[in-house]
Amino acid sequence: TWTMANVVEEQVSRIQEQIGDGRALCALSGGVDSAVAAALVQRAIGDRLTCVYVDHGLMREGETEQIERDFVAVTGVDLRVVDAREQFLGALAGVSDPEEKRKIIGREFIRVFEQAALDVVGDAKAHGDTVDFLVQGTLYPDVVESGGGTGTANIKSHHNVGGLPEDLTFTLVEPLRTLFKDEVREVGIQLGLPESMVWRQPFPGPGLGIRIVGEVTQERLDVLRKADAIVRAELTAAGLDREIWQCPVVLLADVRSVGVQGDGRTYGHPIVLRPVSSEDAMTADWTRLPYDLLAKISTRITNEVAEVNRVVLDVTSKPPGTIEWE
Ligand code: XMP
Repeated sequence: TWTMANVVEEQVSRIQEQIGDGRALCALSGGVDSAVAAALVQRAIGDRLTCVYVDHGLMREGETEQIERDFVAVTGVDLRVVDAREQFLGALAGVSDPEEKRKIIGREFIRVFEQAALDVVGDAKAHGDTVDFLVQGTLYPDVVESGGGTGTANIKSHHNVGGLPEDLTFTLVEPLRTLFKDEVREVGIQLGLPESMVWRQPFPGPGLGIRIVGEVTQERLDVLRKADAIVRAELTAAGLDREIWQCPVVLLADVRSVGVQGDGRTYGHPIVLRPVSSEDAMTADWTRLPYDLLAKISTRITNEVAEVNRVVLDVTSKPPGTIEWE
């Protein structure tokens, strides 16, 4: 019978066949797909896999630690974390345009990952080894969408940026190519990954960078991260994680409104809640969260995050609104 245990075994032996006694590299994003792909390859070739995680400082509370600590503890994967937080903040300084932010974050990611990849390749070379394989968490729907091609890639062509050292041309390893998302989650469970990781809702690559409407600064990230952590904790406590497709929490950093907190008037920022129900993110409806839950979230955010004095609910479907605000 076709079970997930069989899928794991079969993929592991396929990976072993493909990679032989070679070495592989994988970029962990914090998402389900790259985590499951890396865990499978680790199981197949052990520490001949090196994972790189670029900490761009735009993740939500606890997410980087989850990879650094929990994912490594469970999988035993060889992980290099690159702390690039200052580099990203520097590159984003003064930028408010959403597409510009995306471009900058994408470009900096390539720069940092490329350097890390060169380091990994260099270290292997010093031992007379080469790193010929790049692991990617491509799913079946991605394969269909892109016309089914496979083979070699370099880091930049994958991310649609031009020009790259020869050293960074790899053969792709895509152990999830035949799987749908729900199957990938099952494989993840099979491999012992934390539930919170396996069931993680979609989260954009540019992270909190596109959930601050306005310029991204350290202070604004700290404010948004606190508010977001409250929302996620309350949705989880209410048992709604698997019902909601995702719930962006957005900081309107350039908007201020008057409030009264304690004995004084405040001039703080609004936080937007954007809970959506969806099948595939192409269309979505706003999720009718229970009023009591909304009240609790609002009270907690305005009590616990000093810079925020108003919490608002986005009641727009997609279309016309997108899921994210930027
Ligand atoms: P929108 O906002 O277009 O989002 O309705 C649809 C889905 O895509 C996610 N999203 C992104 N994911 N990089 C990503 O990796 C991005 O720049 C990006 N923008 C939006 C969004 O979270 C939703 O799941």
